[in-house]
Amino acid sequence: MVAIAFPACPCYPEARSQDERRGMAVRAVVIAGSPRKGGNSDIMAEYLVSGLRHGGAEVEVVYARDVNVSHCLACYHCSRTGQCIQRDDMQRLYDLFLHCHRICLVTPIFFCQVPSITQAIIERTQTLWVRKYHRHEEVPPLEYPREGLVAAVGATRGQRIFDGLRCAARYWLDSVGIESPRLLTYNGIDEKGAVRERPEVLEEMRQAGLRLAQPEGW
Ligand SMILES: Cc1cc2nc3c(=O)[nH]c(=O)nc-3n(C[C@H](O)[C@H](O)[C@H](O)COP(=O)(O)O)c2cc1C
Repeated sequence: MVAIAFPACPCYPEARSQDERRGMAVRAVVIAGSPRKGGNSDIMAEYLVSGLRHGGAEVEVVYARDVNVSHCLACYHCSRTGQCIQRDDMQRLYDLFLHCHRICLVTPIFFCQVPSITQAIIERTQTLWVRKYHRHEEVPPLEYPREGLVAAVGATRGQRIFDGLRCAARYWLDSVGIESPRLLTYNGIDEKGAVRERPEVLEEMRQAGLRLAQPEGW
């Protein structure tokens, strides 16, 4: 099977030599997955971003509630063409997913899954999954290894509430060449802002950002 490389993204340069990449910052995208502005996962995302930036990474934050991304139509236009038939903010997210060294999602749990606004982003990554597995295209190599982090927060105590997301995260990020994303899960956090009473959670998020900002990764 012939491997076809993705076309270069106009936003970022092609893979560079060792000399050229010296001093090049790690690029990260952080998706904040909740419809609740200023809620627990937004606060956690802030600490993650602060760690990433403090560690020297270039970060783009995407609030799922603010982007216009429809659900997947399952039309398989992407299987024939390599492109999604829908034209919305997902085009920008495809670029970020392909050209960032770190992909992070911070999300609440809604009925043992992610909120539908975040699920739409995950579903639409199907285009990249299809490019990899139906069209046998290679995910473009980057200067540093790719890594993924999914941090999730739920109100109840059960560990099973994260099972669906654990599985979804694996398949979602595999589409962009991330094999073993890290999953950080936090129970017992419900009211808006309640995570501020859990400083250990916020510190863990900041530390995660600092680690992910290093070119060699976590
Ligand atoms: C529609 C909806 C469904 C929810 N489902 C669950 C659930 O299945 N398990 C759970 O532990 N918490 C559930 N919760 C609680 C949220 O996960 C919790 O309040 C979380 O802290 C919200 O984070 P946010 O402030 O970032 O939105 C649900 C909340 C909503 C609004």
